[in-house]
Amino acid sequence: MTALTEAGQREASPSIDSAPVVALSVIVPTFNEASNVATLVERLSAALHGIRWEVIFVDDSSPDGTADAVRAIAQRNARVRCVQRIGRRGLASACIEGALSSSAPFVAVIDGDLQHDETLLPEMFKRLSRGDLDVVIGSRYADKGGFGSWSANRIRASKLATRLAKKATRVSLSDPMSGFFMIRRDTLVALAPQMSSIGFKILLDIFASSKTPLRFEEIPYHFRARGHGDSKLEFVVLWEYAMLLIDKLVGRHIPARLISFSIIGALGVAVHLSIVYAFLLANLSFIIAQTVATFAAMTFNFLLNNLLTYSDMRLRGRKLLFGWITFVLACSVGAAANVGVAGYMFSNNQFWALSALAGIAVGTVWNFAITSIFTWKRQ
Ligand code: GDD
Ligand code: MN
Repeated sequence: MTALTEAGQREASPSIDSAPVVALSVIVPTFNEASNVATLVERLSAALHGIRWEVIFVDDSSPDGTADAVRAIAQRNARVRCVQRIGRRGLASACIEGALSSSAPFVAVIDGDLQHDETLLPEMFKRLSRGDLDVVIGSRYADKGGFGSWSANRIRASKLATRLAKKATRVSLSDPMSGFFMIRRDTLVALAPQMSSIGFKILLDIFASSKTPLRFEEIPYHFRARGHGDSKLEFVVLWEYAMLLIDKLVGRHIPARLISFSIIGALGVAVHLSIVYAFLLANLSFIIAQTVATFAAMTFNFLLNNLLTYSDMRLRGRKLLFGWITFVLACSVGAAANVGVAGYMFSNNQFWALSALAGIAVGTVWNFAITSIFTWKRQ
């Protein structure tokens, strides 16, 4: 009977004209943060006293059971929710999906590893509530901000990435790499379709995707040392960052994934030539060298694309094997198309380099298109 009464109350509430039930949704993207979620919820509860808030963890099925840890807390605390995603990865896309699941007027994005200073949230909320801003950002570069225990190298790399971002997107934030900010939900939801949603840099993505300049303020803060677990910052993150910038620069004309695919394809050619060269040095027959090199280069390309171009939907285990088979099949047809087009052009114009490049271009676009459908298909 309680359930019925509760349902009855829930049904009645929308007709009551009152302040929103939830004023602030805190979105926390997580991957392997099981040991940090309880502490984060406690700290949020302490910091957000007096604000009607909720927290939405968006977890990409972390192997350490983060989603279960969140749900266990959610069973006891109605402010806590979990969105679990399957077969996908990515900080930016996780945050967008979390925001899409919110009905609050404001959403904040904060890391799940306790590195961001959650005591800033009430001040962000206050400023956003004034109504004259779209975004309030926690900035490590604004005066009095700082990097905590980061190494000199990482700070240098971060500053370089920031300069590149400012060049590529004309965004004038002091810390466009910040992963800590609060934004009007309607602003974010309106921008979501234009966003690249690649990788880690969601704030940069938001600003670069907006046709009209967003009204923002920055609040300095100090980046803390990580709670438990590891940073996911690795080469993949840098590659994704480059893809994001490329997508913002030329994405309207050429998909960023195609560019990533082509760069890796060029590396594959280098692998191919090196193997043929090594085999010939060892006095093996050219046909054997060419055959081995072809398969090695295709495998190399497949693995690297799986790691970098499709880092957000990486294949593993049995799916990796099937993916390899579809990749090799697609590329075999692509090779035939390549030779066909190049041969046709050469018979007409006799410019060998131009013909060869045209063949390569057609083959690459074919390989990319087919593997994006059959190898890395959306689940
Ligand atoms: N759902 C989901 N999916 N969450 C993820 C993923 C993913 O693929 N990768 C990372 N996360 C979560 C982590 O669990 C953590 O809560 C948060 O995103 C940040 O990841 P970290 O791996 O801790 O990133 P970081 O500390 O190196 O970088 C942070 O600081 C940078 C400042 O330079 C992030 O906030 C960056 O966005 C920020 O640029
Ligand atoms: Mn971190």
